[in-house]
Amino acid sequence: TYVVTEACIKCKFMDCVEVCPVDCFYEGENMLVINPSECIDCGVCEPECPAEAILPDTETGLEKMLEINTTYSAQWPNVTTNSGQTPADAEEHKGEEDKFEKYFS
Ligand code: SF4
Ligand code: F3S
Repeated sequence: TYVVTEACIKCKFMDCVEVCPVDCFYEGENMLVINPSECIDCGVCEPECPAEAILPDTETGLEKMLEINTTYSAQWPNVTTNSGQTPADAEEHKGEEDKFEKYFS
């Protein structure tokens, strides 16, 4: 599966949802997540994200975010088109470190 990492937090650019062929993104207040059991590993979302927030779970160190994606995709609403909820200051949060610690709730 692919995983949305903490780089999405406070950016939420939404380009990813437009390209996913199986509509497996779910929307929280600060970020999106992927439902790992629905993702077909096509990889088309990865290069679309301006924040480089999407990675395959074969990359190291993604255990925590895989768990977050699994847990919250079961709770948050499905999103299939850009909901227009990209924060006004998204660019300022691009590339910021430790976003999970600082902002995830
Ligand atoms: Fe959707 Fe493909 Fe990205 Fe999985 S890898 S979330 S199926 S676009
Ligand atoms: Fe987040 Fe990137 Fe999608 S910032 S909403 S994963 S395009």
